[in-house]
Amino acid sequence: MCGIFGYIGTQQALPLLVEGLRRLEYRGYDSTGVAIHGENDVAVHKTVGKVADLQAILPGQVEGTMGIAHTRWATHGGVTQVNTHPHHAHDGNIHLVHNGIIENFRSLRQHLEQQNIECISETDSEVLVQMMALERAQGATPLEAVQRTLKRVRGTWGLCIMFRDENMLICARNGSPLIIGQGEGEMFVSSDPHPLTSHTQRVVYLDDGDVAVVSRSSITMHSGQGRPSQPNVTVLEEEWGESELGDAPHFMLKEIYEQPDALRQCIAGRIDREMGSGRLGGMRLRHDTLVQTPHVRLLGCGTAYYAAEIGQMLIEKMARIPAVTHISSEFRNNDPVINPKALYLAVSQSGETADTIAAVKEIKLKGGQIFGVVNVVGSTIARLCGQGVYIHSGPEQSVASTKAFTNMVAALAVFATQLGRTRHLSKEQGRELIDQLQQAPHLMETYFEDTGPLSEAVDLLAEAKSVLYLGRGLSASVAKEGALKLMELAYIPCLAYPAGEMKHGPIALLEEGSPVVVVAPNDHLKEKTLSALHECKARGAKIILIHEKGDSIASEGDVSIAVPSIHPWLTPLLTVVPLQLLAYETALRLGRDVDRPRNLAKSVTVE
Ligand code: AGP
Repeated sequence: MCGIFGYIGTQQALPLLVEGLRRLEYRGYDSTGVAIHGENDVAVHKTVGKVADLQAILPGQVEGTMGIAHTRWATHGGVTQVNTHPHHAHDGNIHLVHNGIIENFRSLRQHLEQQNIECISETDSEVLVQMMALERAQGATPLEAVQRTLKRVRGTWGLCIMFRDENMLICARNGSPLIIGQGEGEMFVSSDPHPLTSHTQRVVYLDDGDVAVVSRSSITMHSGQGRPSQPNVTVLEEEWGESELGDAPHFMLKEIYEQPDALRQCIAGRIDREMGSGRLGGMRLRHDTLVQTPHVRLLGCGTAYYAAEIGQMLIEKMARIPAVTHISSEFRNNDPVINPKALYLAVSQSGETADTIAAVKEIKLKGGQIFGVVNVVGSTIARLCGQGVYIHSGPEQSVASTKAFTNMVAALAVFATQLGRTRHLSKEQGRELIDQLQQAPHLMETYFEDTGPLSEAVDLLAEAKSVLYLGRGLSASVAKEGALKLMELAYIPCLAYPAGEMKHGPIALLEEGSPVVVVAPNDHLKEKTLSALHECKARGAKIILIHEKGDSIASEGDVSIAVPSIHPWLTPLLTVVPLQLLAYETALRLGRDVDRPRNLAKSVTVE
């Protein structure tokens, strides 16, 4: 979704801002702009479209060593140039970029109109800069203008504000992430850690309620009622892997093929083969907590939710205690009953998903023990939970999540093993699982050597009106993940069902030639899945079958794709990979924008 980048220092700001915007592109956006503070004036350039479109309209040189920039994902008001950030005050003295949503913007707009100040855009964000200008006109300092305005605002914000007569930026956060990167005589501001990594490792994460005054050489925090304070500077943990595209045609393909290495990173140092157990230090789990926990609840959205479903099943299989998965937005809006002895796991790649953040806050408020299962180090969910497991996928830039899914599943499998060993899982069973988990990266690589007849399957999918995905048990969640991938990338309506449920409704959709993707690894449910497959075939459906190599059921598919065999509880790590590739290849065939599918954003930071 929206992205912020800001700079104050001695270098020319424009190239740095454009590069920052480029690194924010993966989040998904529809328009972009910059404001550069020159010697006498502020130059603003903005456009609908991509950063490349912005570059095309920029003049040869724009002098200035301070500036702010933004990528906008429209919420309030259409995708137009005037709605694009940065927004400016009516007197031209303040410019601002904003991530988040201002809930009471209508009443604030009315207030401004009563003062004869007309907003020129349809956005909720513009009211903020106009309100600040009003405060300034009444004698407030820049900091007071920001603080007084924010006192009147309801909603969420990550803000970077630039004043024409001041050599500083003011940043503020409430519910939308903002990080300040500290350089030598220069400062960077970003809503995302990626654009900072090439400039500095020293960062300050703003917390909700923080307001920071940022000059070239200092950061001063003004939070709550207290005195100004020095910020807490931390070191940005280097994430493994490159966030650059390199020779790959798309981030999605690059990230699919990074899965074996990502998986190695995820499990390294986290398993105890001798004890046949997991060893997740960051969870800070006490033995008595593990033994006494009555149940586990997992939360997530989209891909993270499907990974959580698999985690839930693994916990029940290994530890024999009840586990339930919830869609974050549903969970928190239904006044959940929280058991302080239970374990809650918030699963999220970005760590910035608004619905999951709100669920975490609800659980904390009610005394629950919440742990993050998160990719982005230092993200809001990771910091809110304060304990948990980083999945270490490295930067995931494609909007469609791939390597984060397999690492979430792997991290949850390690957790399930650890929990299982305090209960029903024997050392031998634990060791077997650990051995197989360690094999999984190699097995993925083996699959990549022969990915099977993908293009034949794409022939069926690309022409389809809709696609049905079926699986049972763990594979039902894999089917859901495969359907989500094809739907979000190729814009083909997809339905995923536990195979046994197919005859209770979705079967009505089948007609001659309808493609049905069946995920049927060699587990105890395979035969039952095959019954559903036959029911589909009998109605003229064309079957794309994902099965284990060497299994005689290969002949059941019109197109059959084999993956290497693995422990039945770990099959999602392999069966999902051809589904990711199918979505990618089908989207390419249909000429879709694979890395930035329409309407979607990488981090969904609004409710
Ligand atoms: C995945 O391909 C999706 N783009 C989306 O469903 C995503 O998984 C969801 O928005 C949750 O994101 P998170 O993992 O960053 O919380």
